[in-house]
Amino acid sequence: MPIPFIFHIIENGPPPWLRDNFWLILKSITSVVFLGLLKVYTSGARCLVEKDMHGKVVIITGGTTGIGAQTTLELAARGAQMVLLTRQPPSDPFLADYIEDVRRQTGNQMVYAEQVNLLSPHSIRKFATRWIDNAPPRRLDLVILCASELTPPGKGLVETKEGVEATWMVNFLANFHLLGILSPAIRAQPFDRDVRIIFTTCSSYIGSPPLETVLDGKKWSAGKAYARSKLALMVFGQSFQKHLDAFKRPDSLPMNARVVFVDPGYSRTPSMRQWLTRGSLWGLALYLLGYLFPWFLLKSPNRGAQSILYASMEPSLGRGPGGKMVKECMEVDFARKDINDDAVGKKLWEDSDKLIEKIEKEQAIQRAKDKKVAEKEAQEQKEAEQAAEIESLVDTIKKGRQKETENQQSSSIKARKKSKKAT
Ligand SMILES: NC(=O)c1ccc[n+]([C@@H]2O[C@H](COP(=O)([O-])OP(=O)(O)OC[C@H]3O[C@@H](n4cnc5c(N)ncnc54)[C@H](OP(=O)(O)O)[C@@H]3O)[C@@H](O)[C@H]2O)c1
Repeated sequence: MPIPFIFHIIENGPPPWLRDNFWLILKSITSVVFLGLLKVYTSGARCLVEKDMHGKVVIITGGTTGIGAQTTLELAARGAQMVLLTRQPPSDPFLADYIEDVRRQTGNQMVYAEQVNLLSPHSIRKFATRWIDNAPPRRLDLVILCASELTPPGKGLVETKEGVEATWMVNFLANFHLLGILSPAIRAQPFDRDVRIIFTTCSSYIGSPPLETVLDGKKWSAGKAYARSKLALMVFGQSFQKHLDAFKRPDSLPMNARVVFVDPGYSRTPSMRQWLTRGSLWGLALYLLGYLFPWFLLKSPNRGAQSILYASMEPSLGRGPGGKMVKECMEVDFARKDINDDAVGKKLWEDSDKLIEKIEKEQAIQRAKDKKVAEKEAQEQKEAEQAAEIESLVDTIKKGRQKETENQQSSSIKARKKSKKAT
C-alpha cells in the first residue's frame, strides 16, 4: 500500500488533500514521533542481563507493592526463593492471597512472607535473630531493601511510638538495624557465593541537607525528610561495605558480599501516587483525570524494577570492590562527596547505634509493663471466674437445701393428712 502510493506521488505529484494539508500532516507526524520517543525515554532502560536464580535465597522488604512487587515477581519467575518481610503477619488473608498469586503467576512455590514491621526495632530484631539463630548459617544471596515511607507534601510529621520520625525509621534506621543483626549471616556465606545487598535510593538525595542538619520545627518538610533519609541510607551503605571488607574470613579469602545502590527512577507506584495527590481525595480525582501525564512521564513499576534486576544479576557487580551505584541499568557515579566521607559515616553509625539501643530499651520496659498489666488482668479474671464458680456452687447448694426442706415439708403435710384420714 505505501509503495504504490509513493509511486503514484512520484508519477502524478501529491494529491490535493496532501498538498493542502502538508504542513499540518508533517506537524502531526513530528508530534507523534516526538511523543513516542519521549515515552521510550521516560520508560527507562530494560535489564538485558539474565541469570538462573534457582537455589538463590532473597530477602526483600517492600515486596508487596510497586517496584518491590515487580522485583519479587521477576526474581521468583527466575526460580529464586523469596522471603518477603511484610508489615502484616503471613496469616493475614490479603497477604496470603497475594503470596498464593505470586506462586501461581511464577510457578514458584518458594515464596514466603515473614512479619517485620519496619517501624519497630523489636519486630526487626525478632525476625533477624531467628534468621541468624541457625547452625550452619542459612543461605543468603540477596538482600533487597525496597520498603519506603513517604509522607505526602502538606501533611505533618509522623512519628513512631518511640518518637522517631517515620520516614527516618523506615527508610534508614530499620535497614541499619536489620543489616546490623544479619551481618554475621552475610559474612558467613561461603566464598564462592555472590552475595549482594541492594539499597534502593532516589535522586532526591542530591538535594538533601547535610546529615548534621537536624530537621525539626520549621526546617522539617516531607521532601527534605525523605531526601535526608535516602542520603543517610547511602552513607550507611558505604560504611556497611567497609564493615564487611574489614572482616577477616576464617578462610583468609576476600569478602564476597557487596553493597549495590540502585536508583530505580520515577515510577507510577503507590507512594509516588500518594506524593502527587498529596494523599487527598481531590488530588486522587485530579490524578485520575490527568492520568495521561503520569503515564507519559513516569515509568511503570516493572520498568522501575529493571535496575534492581540488573544490580541483582549483572556479573561485573559481583567482582571487584562493592559500593557501586546503578541507574538505568548501568553504573553511575555518586553526586555527593559526603556519601564516601568516613567521618560522616562513623558519626551516623554511632548515633544510630545509640538511638536503636535507646528505643529497644524503651520498648523492653514498655513490654515488661504491658506484660505485668496483662498478668494482673489475667489474675483478676481468674479470681473473678473462681468467685463466680464458688457463688454458683453455693447457689446450687442453697437451692438443693431449699428443695430438700420443701420436700420434707410436703411429705410431713401428706403424712399429717394421711393420719387425719385414718382417725
Ligand atoms: N516510585 C518512585 O518513583 C521511586 C523513585 C525513586 C526511588 N524509589 C525507591 O524505590 C523503592 C520502592 O519504591 P516504591 O515507590 O515501589 O514504594 P511503594 O510502592 O510505596 O512501596 C513501599 C513498600 O514499603 C512497605 N513498607 C512501608 N512501611 C513499612 C513498614 N513499616 N513495615 C514494613 N513494610 C513497610 C510497604 O508495605 P505496605 O504495603 O504494608 O505499606 C510497601 O510494600 C523505595 O526505596 C523508594 O524510595 C521510588
